[in-house]
Amino acid sequence: MLILAPSLLAADFKDLAGQIGAVERAGAGYLHLDVMDGAFVPSISFGMPVLSSIRSCTNLVFDVHMMVEEPGRYIDDIKKAGADLICVHQEACLHLDRTVNQIQEAGLKAAVALNPATPISTLEHILPQLDMVLIMSVNPGFGGQKFIPYTLDKVRALRAEANRRGLNLDIQMDGGITPENVGELIEAGANVFVAGSAVFKGDAAANTRRFLEVFERYEAAGTAGAQAGGRP
Ligand code: DX5
Ligand code: ZN
Repeated sequence: MLILAPSLLAADFKDLAGQIGAVERAGAGYLHLDVMDGAFVPSISFGMPVLSSIRSCTNLVFDVHMMVEEPGRYIDDIKKAGADLICVHQEACLHLDRTVNQIQEAGLKAAVALNPATPISTLEHILPQLDMVLIMSVNPGFGGQKFIPYTLDKVRALRAEANRRGLNLDIQMDGGITPENVGELIEAGANVFVAGSAVFKGDAAANTRRFLEVFERYEAAGTAGAQAGGRP
């Protein structure tokens, strides 16, 4: 199952409800919410108050990408703000196992993100417990950056490893994704796609539909990522 997760970071903040409504009606599956602390990444974005106030205007799955040092400190607060899925960075958690357990014990889905240069082998032992792995295709911190091609090799290797171990793992990619390059990412085995600029710059509904048209073509053809993951 292929899922589009528009990243709100690139939206027009004067009209969050309108922008969220547009991508929801056009068929997006998740809403990707980038929380940045100015420490793990250079920039600061938004946090709990923004999440809780937009929670009432949409039924989209809240996919919260925590670009925060030691995100374990905030799991309860992020849950209260409306998260369905919390993604933490491997590089930001000294006790990753504890943080993943905290998320799942709170009743939420747990994902772990890897920066471009972090090898997938760091997740070898915890992999069966994860709902999703996020392979960053840019260095986290800003929207509008260029896709880093070698991250595709990580997706291929991770999908092969998940298949070898019989894991129905969601593999997400985030950064520099467009309707033009997403086909290649599906072929590599990813199935959840974050897009900020490519959705919200211009007509968000039309841009969402462009992604979904590509998804339909790959789903019809039964390509790798299109058959993978997709936990409800
Ligand atoms: C980057 C964020 C992304 C960002 C993607 O650190 O994690 O979610 O919003 O933006 P685009 O799609 O513009 O690369
Ligand atoms: Zn993100």
